[in-house]
Amino acid sequence: MMVRSALLNVTMAAARKAARSLVRDYGELEQLQVSMKGPADFVSSADIKAEKTLRQELKKARPHYGFLLEEGGEIAGDDKSHRWIIDPIDGTTNFLHGIPNFCISIALERDGEIIAGVIYQPLGDEMFHAERGAGAFLNERRLRVSARRKLEESVLTTGIPFLGRPGHEVFLKELGAVMKTVAGVRRFGSAALDLAYVAAGRCDGYWEAGIKPWDIAAGIILVREAGGYVTDYDGGTRMMETGEVVASNDHLHQPMLKLLKTARG
Ligand code: IPD
Ligand code: CA
Repeated sequence: MMVRSALLNVTMAAARKAARSLVRDYGELEQLQVSMKGPADFVSSADIKAEKTLRQELKKARPHYGFLLEEGGEIAGDDKSHRWIIDPIDGTTNFLHGIPNFCISIALERDGEIIAGVIYQPLGDEMFHAERGAGAFLNERRLRVSARRKLEESVLTTGIPFLGRPGHEVFLKELGAVMKTVAGVRRFGSAALDLAYVAAGRCDGYWEAGIKPWDIAAGIILVREAGGYVTDYDGGTRMMETGEVVASNDHLHQPMLKLLKTARG
């Protein structure tokens, strides 16, 4: 039986509301006001609109919680122990290119620990959600990470550092080692959905460096509540500080860490 807190219901409703304007804008891409944030890193009016809706809806429900927003940055609340960590569009490049793999990612942190996560992929109407101790779900279905034991049978996802991002050489070393070892590597373009796919057992693992807290916060609890592991490259839990993430199941996690470490030299 799925038991959901009232706050998780509010969070999911906020995601659906923000998604409505995103989907409208996605359908009218050519009319969007797109400005350049940095090389190959766009921010659109859709992004800002969605973030505003999410902020308003969540503030209505919990007026004193703080926020960490991709666009708006850190907004302290009166309640210092709770904050929402939000990416209004994860997969912005996909969004702007008309590729449907993008999502809204919302996590709730209490005293530095993620206690709930919602990742909503509006075009597929896939609502991934998790709360600490209550399991991870896709819509109403309980999620479980894959049971694969062998890297050579595994499909992994990753993020490729793009123009203007550091780490190109190191990534090529990692990829060189991984592609010789696994059944397949995918680059879908949304870190949050990559983690959701690991939680759902669609992919057996995911790794990326240079990632931000809002890209991964909700995905971390999804993978853990689906019985998987999420660590930094050293096997520790400083993903949000280091920007490094490795996620997979019980059998593949250590082999993945070892493979990446050897590759980097
Ligand atoms: C990006 C996506 C991408 C990942 C990048 C992120 P954005 O977020 O999650 O998959 O490889 O590191 O910055 O810019 O689409 O919100
Ligand atoms: Ca992002």
